[in-house]
Amino acid sequence: MTEHLLNSKQMAQFVASGYLKFEDMIPADLCKACRDEMPTFGGYMAVGSPFEETWPKNTPLGDAFRLPQVQGLIHSLIGPDPLYDHHAAHLVKGNQMKGPDAHQDSVIDFRENYFDIQLSFFPVDTTDEMGGTFLVPGTQYRNVRTGEIGLYQHMRGKIWATCPAGTMYVWNTRVWHGARSNHTDEDRYMFKLRLNPTRPQIRNFDTSDLDDPAIPGILNTNHGWEGNEHRYELMHRMKLWRYLSGQPDYDIGERFLRRIEYNPGRVAVA
Ligand SMILES: [Fe+2]
Repeated sequence: MTEHLLNSKQMAQFVASGYLKFEDMIPADLCKACRDEMPTFGGYMAVGSPFEETWPKNTPLGDAFRLPQVQGLIHSLIGPDPLYDHHAAHLVKGNQMKGPDAHQDSVIDFRENYFDIQLSFFPVDTTDEMGGTFLVPGTQYRNVRTGEIGLYQHMRGKIWATCPAGTMYVWNTRVWHGARSNHTDEDRYMFKLRLNPTRPQIRNFDTSDLDDPAIPGILNTNHGWEGNEHRYELMHRMKLWRYLSGQPDYDIGERFLRRIEYNPGRVAVA
């Protein structure tokens, strides 16, 4: 599995944007078998139980999420022995219109130094007209109440899944997202699996490039919607990066976090 771990630059990208995209994650023959299995795969299993024990074995979808490259991805973000949270074979039928659908899954979730992941697997070629899931990268630090953001449309920086069969997106569950309309005659599936970590999410990835000079720039990514809030967003990202990378004093630019942490009033007077 070691060769499938995310590197530090990819982790920094996840911290900044809240998602990563991997084409060719699931081989074509397995994609087809998974697509055939999706309508009958079933719903919720034992929420909060060990994923390895709970997830079905010897079925196409069982096998797909146990591929070494998928396991490496999971391990990098949430560490060993993850817990099963839930899954869903999300279906948008052919010619089904979705309308405003922006929402956040993670309602009232203020846990610090913590995130769950959702793996979104697209088993067939998903065209623009089929309307793959959309995400607004970088919104994972903005907690809102589920669909109250439905009035926001065409946000700057919005992306959506237009991808070949076998593509997997992994995303922080707090990223704002939604389903798009399907303008084709073909039903579209997005298979989602949510997992929880069981221990602190510290240095579970390949840290050999931890000092790469590209990392500050990656953390500083501007997605277009941040505007004047960009530096505040950057502070949230740096706090999470400090935690995940095990660098409690990490800072960038003009040492932005020092600005709010330096306080002589806290020094004890003898
Ligand atoms: Fe959702």
